[in-house]
Amino acid sequence: MTLPHLISINDLSTSEMESIFVLAQAYLEELGDVQSPSRIGRSTEACRGAIMATLFYEPSTRTRLSFESAMIRLGGSVISSADPRASSAVKGESLADTVRIVSGYADLIALRHPREGAAKLAAEYASVPVINGGDGAHEHPTQTLCDLFTIRREKGALSGLNVAVLGDLQGGRTVHSLVYALARFGATITTAPAGGLSLPESVDWRLRNEFGCERLSGNDLGAGTPVGATYRPRGQPTGSRPSVDVLYLTRFQKERASQEIREYPMVNRELLSIPGLRNALVMHPLPRVKELDIALDADPRAAYFRQASYGVPIRMALVTHILEHSSTQASTSGGHLSLAQQSDFVCANPNCISRDIVEAQTAPAKFVVVVPRRLRCFYCEHEIPAAR
Ligand code: NCD
Repeated sequence: MTLPHLISINDLSTSEMESIFVLAQAYLEELGDVQSPSRIGRSTEACRGAIMATLFYEPSTRTRLSFESAMIRLGGSVISSADPRASSAVKGESLADTVRIVSGYADLIALRHPREGAAKLAAEYASVPVINGGDGAHEHPTQTLCDLFTIRREKGALSGLNVAVLGDLQGGRTVHSLVYALARFGATITTAPAGGLSLPESVDWRLRNEFGCERLSGNDLGAGTPVGATYRPRGQPTGSRPSVDVLYLTRFQKERASQEIREYPMVNRELLSIPGLRNALVMHPLPRVKELDIALDADPRAAYFRQASYGVPIRMALVTHILEHSSTQASTSGGHLSLAQQSDFVCANPNCISRDIVEAQTAPAKFVVVVPRRLRCFYCEHEIPAAR
């Protein structure tokens, strides 16, 4: 039986995403707080009797608590391991063994882990659905569902938008899931990376080769914020520079960086006064550090607290969707590509789960052949040319 795991945003078709948004909207309408329209204020019995395990090996506030709140609002229950120092990982237990054990205790597992590809490994060994709550710098698909739901609610639609993504585009996993999804919805994506922290080569390659984008070199977003590249749907006619619908900012992912950086884009009133940015919705997955001016908090364009609040209805909808599809639907992850067991190769990403001494026993290097001469790690999706 193939379980409906959610490891990458690309595991969901656009129609599945749309049905999750419709359900989240229905939960907000039925159970919303009248005083605060982005907040769920009441509960339902939709998932009564179901148990979710939250296994978090990395710090989290929003993701774990909104998953747990969502499950409780659905009438289900939660068991949680939020501190890796208090789990059997400190005794040397592998992730594969842990998820096999936890599969006996819960009906689905939400996992966060510092290594890229950890959620994929967990999905290989779990006998219940696994939801990726962030795996290293790889992906954070449930944050993307919150992000898209926010845009859909506040801008009225998801297709054909102009979105600028700013900040640490290399280490920020939320951005990776988001740009795939935006490209699939036909957005034009302008990247403004903090000094040198551009999208990883594998993400750039997939945008251009799998998600129908062409890459144009950029100039300046305004107020001295340099643009790295613009990705837009291939074949779209060139015209004057359109105004930005959404400005999506991320913090510097210092826990994944090898050195400090000096230059970092700052979103403040000055940047938002530039003509092309005046109508931009300001979004941030949070936490913010210094890159997002608190003076914007009361501005109606500042959507980030509503975005965080939508974490509950969107995860309620996702959990309902996954539990409903647990026994009926196949996972789409990598299904169309052939798999190469390459025992003579190692993944080139040192933070891949397959490079961890303990986990490598159950996660031997495997690659998906994307096109001849290009291999994608089965776990972390880092890509390497096949010929050495
Ligand atoms: C993000 C994450 O963990 O990747 N936080 C979140 O889940 N909302 C962003 C971040 O930590 O910068």
